[in-house]
Amino acid sequence: MAAKNILVTGGVGYIGSHTVLQLLQQGFRVVVIDNLINSSEVAIQRVVELAGDNGNNLSFHQIDLRDREALRKVFSFTKFDAVIHFAGLKAVGESVQKPLLYYNNNLIGTITLLEVMADHGCKNLVFSSSATVYGWPKQVPCTEEFSLSAANPYGRTKLVIEDICRDIQKTDSEWKIILLRYFNPVGAHPSGFIGEDPRGIPNNLMPFIQQVAVGRRPFLTVFGTDYNTKDGTGVRDYIHIEDLADGHIAALQKLIEDPSIGCEVYNLGTGKGTSVLEMVTAFEKASGKKIPLIMDGRRSGDAEIVYASMKKAERELNWRAKFGIDEMCRDQWNWASKNPWGYGSPDSQS
Ligand code: NAD
Ligand code: WQD
Repeated sequence: MAAKNILVTGGVGYIGSHTVLQLLQQGFRVVVIDNLINSSEVAIQRVVELAGDNGNNLSFHQIDLRDREALRKVFSFTKFDAVIHFAGLKAVGESVQKPLLYYNNNLIGTITLLEVMADHGCKNLVFSSSATVYGWPKQVPCTEEFSLSAANPYGRTKLVIEDICRDIQKTDSEWKIILLRYFNPVGAHPSGFIGEDPRGIPNNLMPFIQQVAVGRRPFLTVFGTDYNTKDGTGVRDYIHIEDLADGHIAALQKLIEDPSIGCEVYNLGTGKGTSVLEMVTAFEKASGKKIPLIMDGRRSGDAEIVYASMKKAERELNWRAKFGIDEMCRDQWNWASKNPWGYGSPDSQS
Protein backbone atom coordinates (compact mmCIF):
# COMPACT_ATOMS: atom_id res chain seq x y z
CA MET A 1 0.00 0.00 0.00
CA ALA A 2 1.32 3.47 -0.86
CA ALA A 3 2.43 5.59 2.10
CA LYS A 4 -0.21 8.05 3.30
CA ASN A 5 0.47 11.77 2.95
CA ILE A 6 -0.23 13.80 6.06
CA LEU A 7 -0.16 17.58 6.34
CA VAL A 8 0.82 18.75 9.83
CA THR A 9 0.19 22.40 10.66
CA GLY A 10 2.26 23.72 13.57
CA GLY A 11 4.49 20.66 13.22
CA VAL A 12 7.62 22.44 14.48
CA GLY A 13 6.05 23.13 17.89
CA TYR A 14 6.18 21.03 21.04
CA ILE A 15 3.39 18.53 20.37
CA GLY A 16 3.77 18.75 16.60
CA SER A 17 7.48 17.86 16.52
CA HIS A 18 6.98 14.73 18.66
CA THR A 19 3.99 13.66 16.57
CA VAL A 20 5.80 14.25 13.27
CA LEU A 21 8.64 12.02 14.46
CA GLN A 22 6.24 9.19 15.28
CA LEU A 23 4.45 9.63 11.94
CA LEU A 24 7.77 9.33 10.08
CA GLN A 25 8.80 6.31 12.15
CA GLN A 26 5.52 4.64 11.24
CA GLY A 27 6.05 5.16 7.52
CA PHE A 28 3.84 8.19 6.81
CA ARG A 29 4.97 10.90 4.39
CA VAL A 30 4.72 14.23 6.19
CA VAL A 31 4.50 17.83 5.03
CA VAL A 32 4.88 20.37 7.84
CA ILE A 33 3.77 23.97 7.65
CA ASP A 34 4.61 26.41 10.42
CA ASN A 35 5.32 30.14 10.58
CA LEU A 36 7.82 29.59 13.47
CA ILE A 37 6.07 32.23 15.60
CA ASN A 38 6.51 30.03 18.67
CA SER A 39 9.09 27.46 17.58
CA SER A 40 12.59 26.93 16.26
CA GLU A 41 13.50 25.33 12.95
CA VAL A 42 16.19 23.42 14.87
CA ALA A 43 13.38 21.19 16.18
CA ILE A 44 12.49 20.02 12.70
CA GLN A 45 16.16 19.42 11.82
CA ARG A 46 16.45 17.21 14.91
CA VAL A 47 13.27 15.33 14.01
CA VAL A 48 14.80 14.56 10.60
CA GLU A 49 17.97 13.27 12.28
CA LEU A 50 16.05 11.12 14.76
CA ALA A 51 13.93 9.66 11.97
CA GLY A 52 17.01 8.29 10.13
CA ASP A 53 16.17 7.17 6.56
CA ASN A 54 12.50 8.02 7.12
CA GLY A 55 13.59 11.63 7.57
CA ASN A 56 13.58 11.80 3.74
CA ASN A 57 9.79 11.59 3.90
CA LEU A 58 9.50 14.99 5.57
CA SER A 59 9.24 18.39 3.94
CA PHE A 60 8.86 21.71 5.69
CA HIS A 61 7.38 25.00 4.48
CA GLN A 62 7.61 28.18 6.53
CA ILE A 63 4.10 29.46 5.90
CA ASP A 64 1.48 31.31 7.88
CA LEU A 65 -1.79 29.40 7.80
CA ARG A 66 -3.64 32.58 6.94
CA ASP A 67 -1.65 32.92 3.70
CA ARG A 68 -4.24 31.32 1.47
CA GLU A 69 -2.17 31.38 -1.73
CA ALA A 70 0.85 29.75 -0.08
CA LEU A 71 -1.43 27.10 1.43
CA ARG A 72 -3.08 26.43 -1.94
CA LYS A 73 0.34 25.88 -3.46
CA VAL A 74 1.16 23.22 -0.85
CA PHE A 75 -2.15 21.45 -1.56
CA SER A 76 -1.61 21.65 -5.32
CA PHE A 77 1.68 19.71 -5.05
CA THR A 78 0.48 16.89 -2.77
CA LYS A 79 -2.79 15.02 -2.42
CA PHE A 80 -3.18 14.71 1.35
CA ASP A 81 -4.95 11.79 3.01
CA ALA A 82 -5.44 13.80 6.21
CA VAL A 83 -4.46 16.96 8.06
CA ILE A 84 -3.37 17.17 11.70
CA HIS A 85 -3.95 20.76 12.77
CA PHE A 86 -1.78 21.92 15.69
CA ALA A 87 -1.01 25.47 14.55
CA GLY A 88 -2.28 28.13 16.90
CA LEU A 89 -1.32 30.45 19.72
CA LYS A 90 -1.78 28.89 23.15
CA ALA A 91 -0.83 31.23 26.00
CA VAL A 92 -3.90 31.81 28.15
CA GLY A 93 -2.66 35.04 29.80
CA GLU A 94 -1.54 36.54 26.48
CA SER A 95 -4.95 35.74 24.99
CA VAL A 96 -6.59 37.86 27.71
CA GLN A 97 -4.22 40.77 26.91
CA LYS A 98 -4.45 40.39 23.12
CA PRO A 99 -7.79 38.78 22.28
CA LEU A 100 -7.82 39.97 18.66
CA LEU A 101 -4.42 38.42 18.02
CA TYR A 102 -5.80 35.08 19.23
CA TYR A 103 -9.10 35.31 17.35
CA ASN A 104 -7.30 36.38 14.20
CA ASN A 105 -4.56 33.76 14.33
CA ASN A 106 -6.49 30.76 15.61
CA LEU A 107 -9.88 31.32 13.96
CA ILE A 108 -8.87 32.82 10.62
CA GLY A 109 -5.99 30.34 10.37
CA THR A 110 -8.36 27.41 10.91
CA ILE A 111 -11.10 28.72 8.62
CA THR A 112 -8.57 29.32 5.83
CA LEU A 113 -7.22 25.80 6.30
CA LEU A 114 -10.69 24.23 6.21
CA GLU A 115 -11.63 26.16 3.06
CA VAL A 116 -8.45 25.17 1.24
CA MET A 117 -8.88 21.55 2.37
CA ALA A 118 -12.46 21.49 1.03
CA ASP A 119 -11.37 23.08 -2.27
CA HIS A 120 -8.81 20.30 -2.72
CA GLY A 121 -11.12 17.45 -1.68
CA CYS A 122 -9.22 16.66 1.53
CA LYS A 123 -11.83 16.36 4.28
CA ASN A 124 -10.07 14.29 6.94
CA LEU A 125 -8.98 16.30 9.95
CA VAL A 126 -7.51 15.77 13.43
CA PHE A 127 -7.75 18.96 15.50
CA SER A 128 -5.92 19.94 18.72
CA SER A 129 -8.58 20.91 21.19
CA SER A 130 -7.96 21.20 24.90
CA ALA A 131 -9.24 20.27 28.34
CA THR A 132 -9.62 24.02 28.77
CA VAL A 133 -13.10 23.60 27.17
CA TYR A 134 -14.27 21.90 30.42
CA GLY A 135 -13.68 25.18 32.31
CA TRP A 136 -13.93 24.53 36.07
CA PRO A 137 -15.54 21.08 35.91
CA LYS A 138 -18.36 20.44 38.42
CA GLN A 139 -17.12 16.88 38.82
CA VAL A 140 -14.26 14.65 37.72
CA PRO A 141 -13.30 12.67 35.75
CA CYS A 142 -14.27 14.84 32.77
CA THR A 143 -16.18 12.90 30.14
CA GLU A 144 -16.56 14.09 26.57
CA GLU A 145 -20.29 14.74 27.18
CA PHE A 146 -19.67 17.40 29.87
CA SER A 147 -21.03 20.87 29.21
CA LEU A 148 -18.39 23.19 27.79
CA SER A 149 -17.28 26.68 28.71
CA ALA A 150 -14.39 29.03 28.16
CA ALA A 151 -12.77 31.28 30.72
CA ASN A 152 -10.57 33.25 28.29
CA PRO A 153 -10.18 34.10 24.57
CA TYR A 154 -7.77 31.18 24.00
CA GLY A 155 -10.35 28.71 25.34
CA ARG A 156 -13.06 30.42 23.29
CA THR A 157 -11.07 29.81 20.08
CA LYS A 158 -11.07 26.08 20.91
CA LEU A 159 -14.83 26.09 21.58
CA VAL A 160 -15.58 27.97 18.36
CA ILE A 161 -13.34 25.73 16.26
CA GLU A 162 -14.96 22.62 17.75
CA ASP A 163 -18.37 24.08 16.79
CA ILE A 164 -17.18 24.99 13.29
CA CYS A 165 -16.02 21.39 12.82
CA ARG A 166 -19.37 19.99 13.98
CA ASP A 167 -21.21 22.43 11.69
CA ILE A 168 -19.26 21.65 8.53
CA GLN A 169 -19.55 17.90 9.11
CA LYS A 170 -23.33 18.21 9.64
CA THR A 171 -23.83 19.84 6.24
CA ASP A 172 -21.25 17.77 4.35
CA SER A 173 -20.93 14.16 5.43
CA GLU A 174 -17.71 13.75 3.44
CA TRP A 175 -15.92 15.46 6.33
CA LYS A 176 -14.37 13.10 8.88
CA ILE A 177 -13.09 14.96 11.92
CA ILE A 178 -11.56 13.96 15.23
CA LEU A 179 -11.31 16.59 17.96
CA LEU A 180 -8.69 15.65 20.55
CA ARG A 181 -8.96 17.31 23.95
CA TYR A 182 -5.48 17.19 25.45
CA PHE A 183 -5.03 17.42 29.19
CA ASN A 184 -1.54 18.54 30.36
CA PRO A 185 1.25 17.39 28.00
CA VAL A 186 4.70 17.18 29.59
CA GLY A 187 8.00 15.35 29.14
CA ALA A 188 10.14 14.95 26.05
CA HIS A 189 11.36 12.38 23.56
CA PRO A 190 13.54 9.85 25.46
CA SER A 191 16.58 10.81 23.34
CA GLY A 192 16.56 14.26 25.00
CA PHE A 193 17.01 15.67 21.50
CA ILE A 194 13.60 17.34 21.19
CA GLY A 195 11.35 18.80 23.89
CA GLU A 196 9.35 21.84 24.95
CA ASP A 197 11.08 25.20 24.60
CA PRO A 198 8.69 28.01 25.55
CA ARG A 199 9.62 31.59 24.69
CA GLY A 200 9.95 34.00 27.60
CA ILE A 201 8.64 33.18 31.07
CA PRO A 202 6.91 29.78 31.01
CA ASN A 203 3.18 29.78 31.76
CA ASN A 204 2.96 26.08 32.50
CA LEU A 205 4.14 24.15 35.52
CA MET A 206 6.62 21.67 34.03
CA PRO A 207 8.67 24.07 31.89
CA PHE A 208 8.85 26.36 34.92
CA ILE A 209 10.11 23.58 37.21
CA GLN A 210 12.62 22.61 34.51
CA GLN A 211 14.00 26.15 34.31
CA VAL A 212 14.40 26.28 38.09
CA ALA A 213 16.22 22.94 38.02
CA VAL A 214 18.77 24.16 35.43
CA GLY A 215 19.32 27.42 37.33
CA ARG A 216 17.54 29.78 34.95
CA ARG A 217 15.01 30.81 37.63
CA PRO A 218 15.49 30.92 41.41
CA PHE A 219 12.22 29.34 42.59
CA LEU A 220 8.82 28.02 41.61
CA THR A 221 5.75 29.91 42.78
CA VAL A 222 3.00 27.49 43.80
CA PHE A 223 -0.33 29.04 42.85
CA GLY A 224 -2.80 28.13 45.58
CA THR A 225 -2.37 25.98 48.68
CA ASP A 226 -5.96 26.01 49.92
CA TYR A 227 -7.70 23.91 47.27
CA ASN A 228 -9.87 21.05 48.39
CA THR A 229 -7.26 18.49 47.28
CA LYS A 230 -4.95 16.00 49.00
CA ASP A 231 -2.26 18.62 49.78
CA GLY A 232 -4.10 21.86 48.98
CA THR A 233 -2.45 22.41 45.57
CA GLY A 234 -4.15 22.15 42.16
CA VAL A 235 -4.61 18.72 40.58
CA ARG A 236 -4.15 18.02 36.86
CA ASP A 237 -3.92 15.10 34.45
CA TYR A 238 -0.34 15.17 33.11
CA ILE A 239 0.31 13.08 30.01
CA HIS A 240 3.69 12.10 28.56
CA ILE A 241 4.27 13.77 25.19
CA GLU A 242 5.17 10.39 23.66
CA ASP A 243 1.79 8.99 24.71
CA LEU A 244 0.07 12.08 23.37
CA ALA A 245 1.86 11.76 20.02
CA ASP A 246 0.90 8.10 19.91
CA GLY A 247 -2.74 9.12 20.52
CA HIS A 248 -2.60 11.08 17.26
CA ILE A 249 -1.53 8.00 15.33
CA ALA A 250 -4.46 6.12 16.87
CA ALA A 251 -6.81 8.94 15.89
CA LEU A 252 -5.43 9.00 12.36
CA GLN A 253 -5.92 5.23 11.99
CA LYS A 254 -9.51 5.63 13.18
CA LEU A 255 -10.10 8.44 10.70
CA ILE A 256 -8.67 6.48 7.81
CA GLU A 257 -10.39 3.19 8.69
CA ASP A 258 -13.84 4.27 9.95
CA PRO A 259 -16.02 5.61 7.12
CA SER A 260 -18.81 6.62 9.52
CA ILE A 261 -16.77 8.51 12.10
CA GLY A 262 -18.49 11.85 11.37
CA CYS A 263 -17.16 14.38 13.89
CA GLU A 264 -16.01 12.72 17.12
CA VAL A 265 -14.29 14.04 20.23
CA TYR A 266 -11.83 12.19 22.47
CA ASN A 267 -9.99 13.09 25.65
CA LEU A 268 -6.25 12.40 25.65
CA GLY A 269 -4.99 12.13 29.22
CA THR A 270 -4.12 9.37 31.67
CA GLY A 271 -7.23 9.48 33.84
CA LYS A 272 -5.07 10.20 36.90
CA GLY A 273 -4.79 13.39 38.92
CA THR A 274 -1.46 14.71 40.26
CA SER A 275 -1.02 17.73 42.52
CA VAL A 276 1.57 20.48 42.04
CA LEU A 277 3.53 19.29 45.08
CA GLU A 278 3.48 15.67 43.88
CA MET A 279 4.89 16.81 40.55
CA VAL A 280 7.62 18.83 42.25
CA THR A 281 8.59 15.82 44.39
CA ALA A 282 8.69 13.51 41.35
CA PHE A 283 10.85 16.01 39.46
CA GLU A 284 13.24 16.40 42.39
CA LYS A 285 13.60 12.62 42.51
CA ALA A 286 14.25 12.35 38.76
CA SER A 287 16.72 15.23 38.62
CA GLY A 288 18.40 15.10 42.00
CA LYS A 289 17.83 18.89 42.15
CA LYS A 290 16.06 20.78 44.90
CA ILE A 291 13.25 23.02 43.61
CA PRO A 292 12.87 26.01 45.97
CA LEU A 293 9.20 26.92 46.41
CA ILE A 294 7.30 30.07 47.26
CA MET A 295 3.74 29.39 48.33
CA ASP A 296 1.37 31.97 46.90
CA GLY A 297 -2.34 32.59 46.32
CA ARG A 298 -4.46 31.03 43.59
CA ARG A 299 -3.84 32.03 39.97
CA SER A 300 -6.89 33.77 38.52
CA GLY A 301 -9.06 31.46 36.40
CA ASP A 302 -7.45 28.21 37.65
CA ALA A 303 -9.63 25.18 38.30
CA GLU A 304 -9.19 23.03 41.40
CA ILE A 305 -9.13 19.50 40.02
CA VAL A 306 -9.13 18.47 36.36
CA TYR A 307 -8.58 14.96 35.06
CA ALA A 308 -9.92 12.95 32.19
CA SER A 309 -12.21 10.01 31.79
CA MET A 310 -10.28 7.85 29.32
CA LYS A 311 -13.02 5.29 28.71
CA LYS A 312 -14.07 6.57 25.29
CA ALA A 313 -10.56 6.79 23.81
CA GLU A 314 -9.65 3.38 25.23
CA ARG A 315 -12.80 1.82 23.79
CA GLU A 316 -12.95 3.51 20.38
CA LEU A 317 -9.32 4.39 19.58
CA ASN A 318 -7.93 1.32 21.30
CA TRP A 319 -5.36 3.61 22.88
CA ARG A 320 -4.20 4.28 26.42
CA ALA A 321 -1.28 6.16 27.96
CA LYS A 322 1.64 3.96 29.00
CA PHE A 323 3.75 6.36 31.05
CA GLY A 324 3.37 7.75 34.58
CA ILE A 325 4.78 10.88 36.20
CA ASP A 326 8.15 9.27 37.00
CA GLU A 327 8.82 8.68 33.29
CA MET A 328 7.47 12.14 32.46
CA CYS A 329 9.93 13.75 34.91
CA ARG A 330 12.80 11.49 33.84
CA ASP A 331 12.43 12.47 30.18
CA GLN A 332 11.78 16.14 30.95
CA TRP A 333 15.00 16.22 32.96
CA ASN A 334 16.95 14.37 30.27
CA TRP A 335 15.90 17.04 27.75
CA ALA A 336 16.52 19.88 30.22
CA SER A 337 19.98 18.74 31.29
CA LYS A 338 21.10 18.23 27.68
CA ASN A 339 19.49 21.49 26.47
CA PRO A 340 19.33 23.92 29.41
CA TRP A 341 18.59 26.75 26.97
CA GLY A 342 16.20 24.76 24.82
CA TYR A 343 16.96 25.12 21.12
CA GLY A 344 18.64 28.48 21.69
CA SER A 345 21.48 29.94 23.71
CA PRO A 346 21.59 32.12 26.85
CA ASP A 347 21.73 35.21 24.59
CA SER A 348 18.51 34.32 22.80
CA GLN A 349 16.42 34.02 25.99
CA SER A 350 14.66 36.44 28.29
P1 NAD B 1 3.44 25.23 20.20
O1 NAD B 1 3.31 26.71 20.31
O2 NAD B 1 4.70 24.60 20.64
O3 NAD B 1 3.14 24.78 18.69
C1 NAD B 1 2.23 25.46 17.86
C2 NAD B 1 2.93 25.75 16.54
O4 NAD B 1 2.03 26.46 15.68
C3 NAD B 1 4.17 26.61 16.70
O5 NAD B 1 5.26 25.98 16.09
C4 NAD B 1 3.81 27.92 16.01
O6 NAD B 1 4.93 28.53 15.42
C5 NAD B 1 2.76 27.46 14.99
N1 NAD B 1 1.80 28.49 14.59
C6 NAD B 1 1.04 29.30 15.37
N2 NAD B 1 0.26 30.08 14.61
C7 NAD B 1 0.53 29.76 13.31
C8 NAD B 1 0.03 30.23 12.05
N3 NAD B 1 -0.87 31.20 11.97
N4 NAD B 1 0.53 29.67 10.93
C9 NAD B 1 1.45 28.68 11.00
N5 NAD B 1 1.95 28.20 12.14
C10 NAD B 1 1.50 28.75 13.29
O7 NAD B 1 2.20 24.59 20.96
P2 NAD B 1 1.92 23.07 21.35
O8 NAD B 1 2.02 22.95 22.81
O9 NAD B 1 2.68 22.18 20.47
O10 NAD B 1 0.36 23.01 21.00
C11 NAD B 1 -0.11 22.54 19.75
C12 NAD B 1 -1.62 22.66 19.74
O11 NAD B 1 -2.16 21.94 20.84
C13 NAD B 1 -2.13 24.09 19.88
O12 NAD B 1 -3.26 24.24 19.05
C14 NAD B 1 -2.52 24.19 21.34
O13 NAD B 1 -3.55 25.12 21.53
C15 NAD B 1 -3.02 22.77 21.59
N6 NAD B 1 -2.95 22.38 23.01
C16 NAD B 1 -1.75 22.48 23.68
C17 NAD B 1 -1.68 22.12 25.02
C18 NAD B 1 -0.40 22.25 25.81
O14 NAD B 1 -0.46 22.32 27.04
N7 NAD B 1 0.76 22.29 25.17
C19 NAD B 1 -2.82 21.64 25.67
C20 NAD B 1 -4.02 21.54 24.96
C21 NAD B 1 -4.05 21.92 23.62
C1 WQD C 1 -0.88 23.28 36.25
C2 WQD C 1 -0.98 23.48 37.76
C3 WQD C 1 -1.29 25.77 38.39
C4 WQD C 1 2.61 27.21 37.04
C5 WQD C 1 -2.93 25.24 30.94
C6 WQD C 1 -3.93 25.91 30.06
C7 WQD C 1 -4.76 24.89 29.33
C8 WQD C 1 -3.88 23.88 28.61
C9 WQD C 1 -2.81 23.32 29.49
C10 WQD C 1 -3.66 24.53 26.35
C11 WQD C 1 -2.05 24.47 38.16
C12 WQD C 1 0.04 25.24 38.90
C13 WQD C 1 1.52 26.41 37.32
C14 WQD C 1 3.38 27.74 38.11
C15 WQD C 1 1.93 26.60 39.67
N1 WQD C 1 -3.19 24.46 27.50
N2 WQD C 1 1.19 26.12 38.62
N3 WQD C 1 3.02 27.40 39.39
O1 WQD C 1 -3.49 25.59 34.10
O2 WQD C 1 -3.90 23.10 33.90
O3 WQD C 1 -3.63 24.43 31.88
O4 WQD C 1 -2.12 24.38 30.13
O5 WQD C 1 -4.75 24.22 25.97
O6 WQD C 1 -5.56 25.61 28.45
O7 WQD C 1 -4.77 26.73 30.86
O8 WQD C 1 -1.65 24.02 33.32
O9 WQD C 1 0.77 23.89 33.72
O10 WQD C 1 -0.35 26.16 33.77
O11 WQD C 1 -0.78 24.55 35.61
O12 WQD C 1 1.64 26.34 40.84
O13 WQD C 1 4.34 28.47 37.92
O14 WQD C 1 0.26 24.04 38.20
O15 WQD C 1 -1.88 26.63 39.31
O16 WQD C 1 -2.61 24.02 39.38
P1 WQD C 1 -3.24 24.33 33.41
P2 WQD C 1 -0.42 24.70 34.04
